[in-house]
Amino acid sequence: MTTEKTERTYIMLKPDALKRGLIGEIIARIEKKGYKIKKIKTLELDEAILKEHYAHIAARPFFPSLLQYMTSGPVVAMIVEGPDAVLGMRILMGATKFEEALPGTIRGDYAFCTTENLIHGSDSPENAEIEIARFFGE
Ligand code: PPS
Repeated sequence: MTTEKTERTYIMLKPDALKRGLIGEIIARIEKKGYKIKKIKTLELDEAILKEHYAHIAARPFFPSLLQYMTSGPVVAMIVEGPDAVLGMRILMGATKFEEALPGTIRGDYAFCTTENLIHGSDSPENAEIEIARFFGE
């Protein structure tokens, strides 16, 4: 008997993923893992939505550079679905800090700094639904 739950998660390919031409590679990894991309679109984010999305870290010293980076170009927003997709995508992405991201993960293979770390993924099923509502209006 399997215990996996089908979940949705919010995934965002950050501006460096587009600038570096890594979207195809990253999406291929998500699909090869077996997850389904239920919705996908490009977006230009403004400071208002980013201040809401990153409200929990607004006081951190890196926040101004995070805002500048996240408004430096378009992002790709996705709803990804599959068994335990929230945790599974976090494992596929690798650790937030680039120096802790293991080879074989998206950040471990391609990120060389923590701010420009290519990809965002929801950290819980509850936050996934909040973020899907925020970016897809569902
Ligand atoms: S915490 O408090 O560090 O655990 O916060 P977390 O929820 O992981 O979110 C941190 C987000 O800020 C991005 N970011 C950085 N984190 C740590 N250090 C530095 N220097 C930094 N610069 C940017 C980090 O990628 C997280 O964003 P997301 O989009 O969630 O990956």
